[in-house]
Amino acid sequence: MSALAELYREIENCQDCALARSRIKVVPGEGAEDADLFFIGEAPGWHEDQQGRPFVGPAGQFLEKLLASIGLRREQVYISNVIKCRPPQNRDPLPAEIEVCRKWLDRQIELIRPRIIVTLGRYSLARYFPHESISKVHGKARKMGDVIYYPMYHPAAALHQGNLSNIIEADMLKIPEILAQAEGVREVDSESRQLNLF
Ligand code: URA
Repeated sequence: MSALAELYREIENCQDCALARSRIKVVPGEGAEDADLFFIGEAPGWHEDQQGRPFVGPAGQFLEKLLASIGLRREQVYISNVIKCRPPQNRDPLPAEIEVCRKWLDRQIELIRPRIIVTLGRYSLARYFPHESISKVHGKARKMGDVIYYPMYHPAAALHQGNLSNIIEADMLKIPEILAQAEGVREVDSESRQLNLF
């Protein structure tokens, strides 16, 4: 069994908080084992709880559209959440739930070793930058160690607040260039950059 498959098995058996009793399915996360881009959402919602897969409801459809805008399919990236089980009535995750679930996301990131971690919304932002406000730091990449952190608004927030959708779309379009820089690709002029990357 691969290390990732073993991790999924452990997550599926997790009983470390009360959400284990209300969930239908655990939502461990999914995607390419060698993904450069690792997206972290907040928590599974109703659709995710039914299917055991992250971002498969309306927010997921929007995320897929955003990925398509940079030429990517969801199978080519990794998609996970701060917590792996749905909170009842989609309430916000509790600090204690985030804390007991932290180990799973840490281990996923260790196994995938992405170049860029994209935080979607304030809960995943708070995991890395607890004192930052998303309205100030979205769309700004920051390197810590070997990894680039890139905060974005949550796709569900953009669905509910129309004015955020242009912002989240523009922030997504910056990712190819950040990735190219992370890979040490030489700067190319903006015309050929558009041809190559979009
Ligand atoms: N919202 C999230 O944060 N995660 C999901 O998996 C679905 C919706």
